[in-house]
Amino acid sequence: MALRNILKEGEPTLLKKSRAVADFNPRLHQLIDDLRETLLHADGVGLAAPQVGVLRRVVLVMDTEKEDATPEEQLIELVNPEIVAASGEQIGPEGCLSLPGVYGIVKRPDLVKVRAQDRNGKFFEVWGSMLTARAFCHEIDHLNGVLFRSIADEILTPEQLEEMRNCEDDDEDEEKPEGTNE
Ligand code: NI
Repeated sequence: MALRNILKEGEPTLLKKSRAVADFNPRLHQLIDDLRETLLHADGVGLAAPQVGVLRRVVLVMDTEKEDATPEEQLIELVNPEIVAASGEQIGPEGCLSLPGVYGIVKRPDLVKVRAQDRNGKFFEVWGSMLTARAFCHEIDHLNGVLFRSIADEILTPEQLEEMRNCEDDDEDEEKPEGTNE
């Protein structure tokens, strides 16, 4: 495994649409292993292949609703993911490893069902709620070249950010508050 460099906003690759994966080969497994290591190292809640410069439909999402699981166990690998059902609405802060220090208020469904393939091509479905639903939507947007800045209702000012951080400090039980990087 190897850490990969996370592209930052301004890189044209982040605005391109990724292609579907057709070959579930060792090269794909290497990419997924590298994404895992890179995401865990960056301490984010999700990462998409285009963020490391690979325009393939592969994302990782941490299921932070699984509170007793280790970060490794929370990681969900999704190849060719699609949202097949969504309901409810949540409005809250969102960040991105490709936009360090930037947070915006983004509206998302609060429950989604995703259909995807695993690293061997086997189809599966997974539900996500709350922050995990947000992460699924955010990562799948990356596959379509969409960064949250372009769909945010507003970008938080430094003062609002400070306020959000203070709230997080007060809430010691919450290890991964909303607004952590994806
Ligand atoms: Ni992101």
